[in-house]
Amino acid sequence: MKVPFYDATREYKLYKSEFDNAISNAVSSGAFILGKQVSEFEEAVCNYTGAKYAVGVANGSDALVIASDILEYKNNAEIITPVFTFFASTSCIARLGGKPIFCDVDEETFNINFTDAENRITNKTKGILPVHLFLQTADMTSCMELAKKYNLSVLEDAAEAFGMKTKYNGEYIHAGLIGDFGIFSFFPTKTLGGYGDGGMIITNNEELYKKAKSYRVHGASKKYHHDYIGYNSRLDTLQAAILQVKLSHINKSLELRKKHAALYRKLLNDLPQIKLPVIKDGNQEVNYVFCIKAEKRDALEAHLNSREIGTSIYYPVPLHLQKCFEYLGYKKGDFPVAEKLCETVLALPMFPELKEEEISFVCESIKEFYK
Ligand SMILES: Cc1ncc(COP(=O)(O)O)c(C=O)c1O
Repeated sequence: MKVPFYDATREYKLYKSEFDNAISNAVSSGAFILGKQVSEFEEAVCNYTGAKYAVGVANGSDALVIASDILEYKNNAEIITPVFTFFASTSCIARLGGKPIFCDVDEETFNINFTDAENRITNKTKGILPVHLFLQTADMTSCMELAKKYNLSVLEDAAEAFGMKTKYNGEYIHAGLIGDFGIFSFFPTKTLGGYGDGGMIITNNEELYKKAKSYRVHGASKKYHHDYIGYNSRLDTLQAAILQVKLSHINKSLELRKKHAALYRKLLNDLPQIKLPVIKDGNQEVNYVFCIKAEKRDALEAHLNSREIGTSIYYPVPLHLQKCFEYLGYKKGDFPVAEKLCETVLALPMFPELKEEEISFVCESIKEFYK
């Protein structure tokens, strides 16, 4: 049996006529740039998440750069952010001339540790960029307490978090809507993934929304009239059409992911060499990836790959040890939890159309390795 880490073709086959119709309608309309599918999809995302405003952009990385630019994460402003995440969560700060201030993460949830974060706040700190990693949001209650106490803006990297909710002030709120801005990525493997790149900025603040909408079209509020030096970064009409179909099936997809995670948990529960991810109270989990912490991780991965089971390592190198961030002056040992995670995490196959027998095969193969 071959078990892919991720396979988009299974879902395509399942809803083929819906996808084909959506694609053909978009192409036959001839409106390729910001066609009506983009605004329809933005409205659908607002309805689903509860956001007041949504702006479709070219990808999640651009969404982060645009939001960072608007929140002025530049001119050496210090921005608090986790060291264990995808590169784009930090490059958006650094490329604009802001200074990323890394924090360690929680070893059970993989998310930013706000006790460590508070210790790193100075009078130059301007914002917090929390990341909602893998299956639950960062602790947004602690995040907003710090933001209020030190008068900081908050940009939520919800690239991996479409569908995640967290309890905040007694209410479950969708990821990305507690801070000033939130962003999504529609990279194909994401919980809401397109057939190419795509991203979105969400906010409940009208002024920030208007800026984001203008920044995606070169800072123009009216064609050829530029209020800001913006970007050329629009969600593609074809991707919006495809994502509308995907969004109409999202609840089922998220439920299936949850079911798969429960099966992994059941089958791997008694293995002492493995630690399963922990979901903290007040979080509605969304299983973007299923990451275990494993003893002899690299050998286990090689064993699984030799049995044609796809795996991935999120993330092999913490950001403070990336060559391009040497100038920030961090060194090995500065973030012990993140560094340990980079040596032990392993993501197992996870996508809605995964079959139960495939999960069983993955778990049997893991058990066989540790025997
Ligand atoms: C945490 C995080 N931030 C940002 C991004 C960037 O999104 P994109 O690949 O759409 O540019 C990703 C996804 O790749 C991500 O996982």
